[in-house]
Amino acid sequence: MNRKKFLGVAGGAVLVVAGGYYLQSDKSNFVRADLEENFPEKIPLTADERNILFLASLAPSGHNTQPWFVQYIEPYHWIIGNDKSKWLPGVDPTQRETMLSIGAFTQNLEYAASNLGYQCQFTILANNNQDEQVLSVKLTKASNAPKYNIEKIKQRRTIRSNYLSEVLKKEDLDALMVGEGDAFHWLPNTSKEHQYLNEQTIEANRIQSYRDAAQSELADWIRFSSKDAEKHADGLTTASMEIKGVPAWVLRNFYGKSSVMKKNFREQSIDTARKQVSQSAGWLLITSKDNAVATLLDTGRRLQKLWLSIREKGIAIHPMTQILEETTTNAELNSAIGIRDPVQFILRTGYVKAYPQPVSLRRAVDGFVRM
Ligand SMILES: Cc1cc2nc3c(=O)[nH]c(=O)nc-3n(C[C@H](O)[C@H](O)[C@H](O)COP(=O)(O)O)c2cc1C
Repeated sequence: MNRKKFLGVAGGAVLVVAGGYYLQSDKSNFVRADLEENFPEKIPLTADERNILFLASLAPSGHNTQPWFVQYIEPYHWIIGNDKSKWLPGVDPTQRETMLSIGAFTQNLEYAASNLGYQCQFTILANNNQDEQVLSVKLTKASNAPKYNIEKIKQRRTIRSNYLSEVLKKEDLDALMVGEGDAFHWLPNTSKEHQYLNEQTIEANRIQSYRDAAQSELADWIRFSSKDAEKHADGLTTASMEIKGVPAWVLRNFYGKSSVMKKNFREQSIDTARKQVSQSAGWLLITSKDNAVATLLDTGRRLQKLWLSIREKGIAIHPMTQILEETTTNAELNSAIGIRDPVQFILRTGYVKAYPQPVSLRRAVDGFVRM
């Protein structure tokens, strides 16, 4: 065999092996629609109960930990609980974000119940962010309950890329702020406060990426492979991080927890944050009067009401929480932007051309209901 022929044969063999490897590899991002719909139903819930709890669980949560559980007391009477095993001590040591997420869950639950003709009676049980029993809820049939459109719950999602920098139309901004003048603060991309938040978000991402407690916690919640994503049905996936094509294939097949602790992964995360903050119409901040349990739950509800109302306007939001999570950036936030009340959410906000389908995963209802 001459050299040219040998190279041809060898090249062909490499292609066959590589092709074979590719065919057996983890070929596509695992998304919500890939989750098996027919979960075994171990817990005897009515169809309405199951539906309401499923829709409640579509609420957002930091790192998509889904830090809630539901204790079943009797039909249509539950306790919403705080699942300690889903806490994020590295970035949320006081469980502030946990309570905000449970607040968003509660809002979804109330809207989903109203769609099926129930009204909810909530009683707060927790005295602090660590108490296991957060609130009880009783659902009763109410013929005049306003019917909420649950498509909004199903379609809500975090969007992280391709924001336009076009300013928000006055009517859209007015609709976002209506009734929320005290708690919502709009910092358009023309303001100096906006520039400050961009810079500090990059800085807080830099600090956090090199803080091992935060980075290894993040590693615990990234589901690189489709197998892991399907098994846990939580956390951050390549799809939810909006990584596609060859880079996503590489992550799914060759990355694991140890990769997250490497310098190039940390640097890549800071670069991504830098790129993200360069695109938006502005920052929307949500503040509250204090940090009491009831206030945090209420603030989580406010976030969720807002989030459910923006898709129809082509507006996306992306919580970027690192400034609040890092001590040095958090310490100077309020005075730098001239806001007195505690800031609970920092939301990058803007129009997007296309609104993609939700892809983040959720555990099955039977996975978070306890009898
Ligand atoms: C309290 C809270 C904090 C969050 N912080 C961040 C954040 O800092 N960066 C980010 O990309 N997403 C953040 N998110 C968004 C979650 O990652 C997202 O809700 C979750 O992955 C589920 O995805 P979904 O919103 O598309 O359903 C946060 C959400 C909540 C409720």
